[in-house]
Amino acid sequence: MTKINIGNKGFTYPMPMTIVGAHVDKKPNFMAVGWVTRVNYHPPIIAIAINKNHYTNKGIIESKAFSVNIPNVEMIEETDYIGIVSGKKIDKSDIFDLFYGELNTPMIKKCPLNIECSLREVVNLPTNQIFLGDIVAVYIEEKYLTDEKPDIKKLNPFTLTMPDNNFWSVGSHLGKAWEIGKKIKERN
Ligand SMILES: Cc1cc2nc3c(=O)[nH]c(=O)nc-3n(C[C@H](O)[C@H](O)[C@H](O)COP(=O)(O)O)c2cc1C
Repeated sequence: MTKINIGNKGFTYPMPMTIVGAHVDKKPNFMAVGWVTRVNYHPPIIAIAINKNHYTNKGIIESKAFSVNIPNVEMIEETDYIGIVSGKKIDKSDIFDLFYGELNTPMIKKCPLNIECSLREVVNLPTNQIFLGDIVAVYIEEKYLTDEKPDIKKLNPFTLTMPDNNFWSVGSHLGKAWEIGKKIKERN
């Protein structure tokens, strides 16, 4: 086996595609975000990594809140569009029908799942800011649940790969996590 070093532009595969929302200059604004992950178990904390040049950053800092909305595959064009144009130049406040939860942060009705976050901390990196948000609520319609849990098949989200910059749908179910590995454990 020979592995080659392809440089340092490393990414995880795949990345979840999300839409981050916040009030900026008193107006709802949205941007596409693939650099997002849950980072703390209890309390539940989510992290999003956003380039310092974007318009959304200012709104998150000022309003101390943001939302992470999970679009489904039918929303692929809108998701890409809000990742191409900036709220600095184009008003993105009327693209989606919105709703509000516990915080005054905009969430997208059409997205099957919405995570409402209160800003905990901002970590400044050379080009990006990591926004750490305490999850205050998660919103979902009952039709997207199976056994009271969000069902990925019903949500029908999509994913992103970089640096080739492509969107992908989610594949098939492979096995139960925290269970399938027990076969090896039992053998040893
Ligand atoms: C598929 C896709 C994924 C993106 N992911 C991120 C990301 O994770 N972090 C980031 O800073 N920008 C990301 N962007 C770029 C922003 O969404 C884009 O620059 C957007 O216009 C910023 O909006 P704003 O200036 O209104 O805040 C992504 C764009 C696309 C198309």
